[in-house]
Amino acid sequence: MTDKPFLYVVVCAAGVAADVSKLITAAQERDREVGVIATPTAMNGFFDAAAVETQTGRPIRSAWRRPGDPRPFPAPDAVVVAPATFNTVNKWAAGIADTLAVGTLCEAAGLGVPIAVLPCVADALAAHPAYRDAVARLRGMGVRFADPYPGEGERDGERREFGWERALDLLGDG
Ligand SMILES: Cc1cc2nc3c(=O)[nH]c(=O)nc-3n(C[C@H](O)[C@H](O)[C@H](O)COP(=O)(O)O)c2cc1C
Repeated sequence: MTDKPFLYVVVCAAGVAADVSKLITAAQERDREVGVIATPTAMNGFFDAAAVETQTGRPIRSAWRRPGDPRPFPAPDAVVVAPATFNTVNKWAAGIADTLAVGTLCEAAGLGVPIAVLPCVADALAAHPAYRDAVARLRGMGVRFADPYPGEGERDGERREFGWERALDLLGDG
């Protein structure tokens, strides 16, 4: 058992999830205990699950436990959703808890747990009115969003770095 604050890292099925170990390292350096909850699609090759389990020292959660089984993780002190997909953001705002990840997010928001989100959503999808409404609705619930690709003039150049630490900054984790 540990006295460190427990951070849930919710990982969705976006290409940049391959680098989620950077977020876990940054959180651990800020003295957070980390448990990863991945969407079922994210578990399908989007990141190195075995490496993440070694890094966190815990199994990744992706499906609901069986009735009667103990809760595998402690309750969260905070939650980061990174990368957050178009799909998961829309379902979360609509309350469609068909994955453990979305169900956990819906519940955490209702409990008032601080949640920071780094969306990884292409401009063409972000222009969809359902997505714009979803972000506005979640912001209205107190969910904090940051642009993981800040800065001007970098869009057409080399591949930009995903700003993983911005999520921790949003939570005020120092
Ligand atoms: C290689 C690859 C990369 C993807 N990258 C993104 C992405 O950056 N953002 C996004 O919203 N969806 C992306 N998708 C599509 C999602 O994986 C898809 O919408 C999926 O249903 C999301 O499931 P989840 O939200 O449960 O993780 C990508 C799909 C593939 C195959």
